[in-house]
Amino acid sequence: MNVLGIETSCDETAAAIVSDIGDGGGTILSNVVLSQLDDHRPFGGVVPEIAARAHLDQLDSIIARALDDAGMTLEAIDGIAATAGPGLIGGVHVGSMTAKAIASARRLPFIAVNHLEAHALTARLTDDVEFPYLLLLVSGGHCQLLAVEGLGQYTLLGTTIDDAIGEAFDKTAKLLGLGFPGGPAVQDAAATGDAARFKLPRPLKGRPGCDFSFSGLKTAVRQTALKLEGTASAQDIADLAASFQTAVCDTVADRCRHAFAMFADSHGGTPPALVAAGGVAANIALRETLEKTCAPHGIKLVVPPPALCTDNAAMVAWAGLERLKAGITSPLDFRPRPRWPLAELRAAE
Ligand code: KG4
Ligand code: ZN
Repeated sequence: MNVLGIETSCDETAAAIVSDIGDGGGTILSNVVLSQLDDHRPFGGVVPEIAARAHLDQLDSIIARALDDAGMTLEAIDGIAATAGPGLIGGVHVGSMTAKAIASARRLPFIAVNHLEAHALTARLTDDVEFPYLLLLVSGGHCQLLAVEGLGQYTLLGTTIDDAIGEAFDKTAKLLGLGFPGGPAVQDAAATGDAARFKLPRPLKGRPGCDFSFSGLKTAVRQTALKLEGTASAQDIADLAASFQTAVCDTVADRCRHAFAMFADSHGGTPPALVAAGGVAANIALRETLEKTCAPHGIKLVVPPPALCTDNAAMVAWAGLERLKAGITSPLDFRPRPRWPLAELRAAE
């Protein structure tokens, strides 16, 4: 079975083809991602209207390239999957409408994919992870810990009570004059920094549960940056970036340890695997921290390769394929959802 996946929920226009290879596995036949970063950079963030128009301009040719790269035509496709939320609704409409149009013209099943479920299931494509597992979803819009029980079955254990983790990276980068997108820029600057130089808070560390908070950390970074303003050397900026990144890693490690215990309470044992998903999972320091956090508990850490952590359409095609194999498709009048929490997702939705 070959599924064409389409991703347009933020600032990447992407199309990919994923095929099943038996035994529940899959393989990526093509994966085309066109980043709109240059269109948004002058504004220091993603502008929804510009994003939607760029998706509209580019999507047809990106789909044609995905088919070309896979060496196939639409004849060989068995289902069309598109991100139908959550995300910037203009872009989501462009992707969903295109997918519905192809599905309708070719009489193929349409699968409305939840973008977060696509991130969540990627590790099953890359590493054959079996249900249940613990999921750390860390992206530009989210920071959550969930128990993944099965397709469409998610139990929320903890979430951010203010900013998303990627947002914290992006805002820190802005404060430090490191440009956009912030995550990779902070990571690069931190590489030559002294993480022990600035004492920054670890919000909610040690508190019960596994919720997250980043606004206090952001404020502390702002106050430190203000004190340095005008006199900040490249080393000062590197040190502050490193101190911030380490504070984030410490906090996430603490929250994960609490989630291990919560998972154990409800499942009678620690999770066999912790899967990190979403753009921030591309962060190398975070990966190293998670490795150290999992090891003492015998928990396997699974982090997909960076190109499959950040937004892409292979993850959408794979989520579509998993649903199609389970006999779950979506009606052509499926309404895209700007807000669509994983904990509200049901397998049949
Ligand atoms: O999942 P994603 O590509 O888009 C959605 O939010 O759905 O995540 C984007 C976020 C941005 O905030 C970006 O700065 C962050 O992921 N990011 C990183 C890194 N690469 C991307 N954050 C920290 N370190 C990175 N290496
Ligand atoms: Zn994403």
